[in-house]
Amino acid sequence: MTEQAVHAPASLAQRVRGDFPILAQEQDGKRLVYLDSAATGQKPSSVIDAIDSFYRNSNAPIHRSTYALAESSTQLFEGARERIAAFMGATTETTIFTRNATEAINLVAHAWGRDPRTGNIGEGDVVLVTEMEHHSNIVPWQMLCRDTGATLDYVKITDDGLLDADDLAAKLAGGNVKLFAVAHISNVLGTVNDVKALVAQARAAGATVLIDGSQAVPQMPVNVAEIDADFYVWTGHKAYGPTGIGVLHGRRELLATMRPWLGGGDMIKVVNWNDSSYNDLPWKFEAGTSAVAEAVGLGAAIDFIAELGSENIRAHEHALVENALPRLAEIPGLTVVGPGAEARGGVISFTLDGMHPHDVGELLGRENVCVRTGHHCAQPLMRRLGIPATARASFACFNDTDDVDALIEALHKARKVFGL
Ligand SMILES: Cc1ncc(COP(=O)(O)O)c(C=O)c1O
Repeated sequence: MTEQAVHAPASLAQRVRGDFPILAQEQDGKRLVYLDSAATGQKPSSVIDAIDSFYRNSNAPIHRSTYALAESSTQLFEGARERIAAFMGATTETTIFTRNATEAINLVAHAWGRDPRTGNIGEGDVVLVTEMEHHSNIVPWQMLCRDTGATLDYVKITDDGLLDADDLAAKLAGGNVKLFAVAHISNVLGTVNDVKALVAQARAAGATVLIDGSQAVPQMPVNVAEIDADFYVWTGHKAYGPTGIGVLHGRRELLATMRPWLGGGDMIKVVNWNDSSYNDLPWKFEAGTSAVAEAVGLGAAIDFIAELGSENIRAHEHALVENALPRLAEIPGLTVVGPGAEARGGVISFTLDGMHPHDVGELLGRENVCVRTGHHCAQPLMRRLGIPATARASFACFNDTDDVDALIEALHKARKVFGL
């Protein structure tokens, strides 16, 4: 990172705010304060323009046709893959487009977990997840365990929202953990897990490791070669890209031996009456017509992140969290869940005594302050925390301390409405 590339938090937001057309809109004269990027990210003009331009100028079937337009669309699609792979420290062969992170995890659960030739997961085996996982990183494993007779187990979290290292060590020491699946950043607690160390620890205990990077890719530098997990998944719409596209990075040797999950066009080499030979990586796992415009849009989103610098985005969101945490703590009855700023990404979930999170969300919404409320697709975690739901504010590169001010002010107003 060069000296010039480092931007103070305010200047980063100032620099990029104009890139997000949606932020210009108002509701009853109140500007949009978007604090829900952990649910879905807003899109910069460069992403919107890339998709628009694809449909206006380059739309044609990829891979199959020989005319110039089709070559151009194929080039845009595969070019996006090349840039995404390079940005993530992966190769194009090991960068597979899926619909989202959820589909990427299901792909692994089916193609790796259910493979009857290898018996990767079977009776007596343990699939280990953690108490802080999103449903996407729980339910596919429940289904796999149900079908194979394996057991699903959860690494506990500590009261301050960190993974319980002793519990993890004890569970790995059991010797029968075949798969360990863990979030890089929790979408509720904001906890940033040291995934490189976790991968090393779990692999030393004989487990295959999947990292759910859905929250991490938009928030911090991620290099899958350095992390060295067997599988690393993420989702485009949270990373300033479009919906309908996600990514699975996998260890080449594993992907090469795994059988495809979905069959159909594009994933084959030769189709006979009774059997087929499969395409090379990554296309073996990309059956059917791909989300071409979405891939092009995701390529533009990655260019956007690369241009800002993931380190700068991380520093920026960290500064906002440091600004917001003590101010939130001053609001009577407000409890933040999760660790302190040092172990946290750009996500702050909280409860407010005397108010249901949905009421908090609705009253904040009247001020045009957008936060997410509910269980955040993490019901087991809510159960562990002993609460039904939280409100959650999450940051992106375009947020600044004015947005934190608006959040704090709106929370005070909401308490007043409730007579608190
Ligand atoms: C940590 C985490 N994992 C997985 C997902 C699922 O993402 P998608 O619905 O795009 O597959 C989310 C989305 O909220 C998430 O926050």
